Amino acid sequence: MSEEKRHDGRKPNDLRPIEIKLGVNKNADGSCLLTWGKNVVLATVHGPKQMFPKHLSNPSKAVIDYKYRMACISTPERKSPVPGKRDKEISLVSGNALESAIMVEQFPNTVIEINTLIFTADAGTRVAALTAASLAAADAGLPMKGLISSVAGGRSNKQLVLDLDKQEEDAPDAVDLACAMLMPQKEIALLQMDGFVDIKETKEILKNTVKGIETVYDMQKKALIEKYPLEGEINE
Ligand code: CDP
Repeated sequence: MSEEKRHDGRKPNDLRPIEIKLGVNKNADGSCLLTWGKNVVLATVHGPKQMFPKHLSNPSKAVIDYKYRMACISTPERKSPVPGKRDKEISLVSGNALESAIMVEQFPNTVIEINTLIFTADAGTRVAALTAASLAAADAGLPMKGLISSVAGGRSNKQLVLDLDKQEEDAPDAVDLACAMLMPQKEIALLQMDGFVDIKETKEILKNTVKGIETVYDMQKKALIEKYPLEGEINE
């Protein structure tokens, strides 16, 4: 396996630069603006609030209404604002992943609306959106079992790499494995893969991806602690 530098200068297991800003949308209960390489995503959380129509509510837990959307301006060609199958599928599986982190059973008969909007897309947008959404939920003060941290790993041009960008995802041999984990418990909350790969390489890709997830989790914690300093640190 070659260990060549990638087209943007990264080493195989480097993530793109990640920047996190919390509480950027004053209309929401919680929000996060995440820049991940060239990806830019805004995640907002509204709720828990009363659900309409009422028959869609659940008497034993809050319903997570997660929306993943790409803005018309997010791709080089103007994208239709109408959500397609891909947006709906990503919304469903991401909402399920986030539900494993939020203590939904504390808010029966309510809905928690989570909107993620991709302003600029350069591959890895579903994992960026989920990472941002988890931070927006924490920013909203929702009780959580942990954070959802998410990264995609894979293969591009015969090299196993972490956090593929669009150019790498477009390689003829590309494999893209998106993974989200409930942290720090390290439980897999989402796992999706495109491409053809044997079991040995799949295991290696997953191992690299888990390491990337640990790095993302550390960044998430740092951003939350910066905005919400721990009591001990306030008194210092
Ligand atoms: O973004 P992610 O890797 O989670 O999802 P994908 O379906 O593998 O898409 C990879 C990339 O293709 C996106 O991030 C966009 O840059 C691009 N794309 C696009 O230009 N138009 C679409 N309708 C879907 C994806």
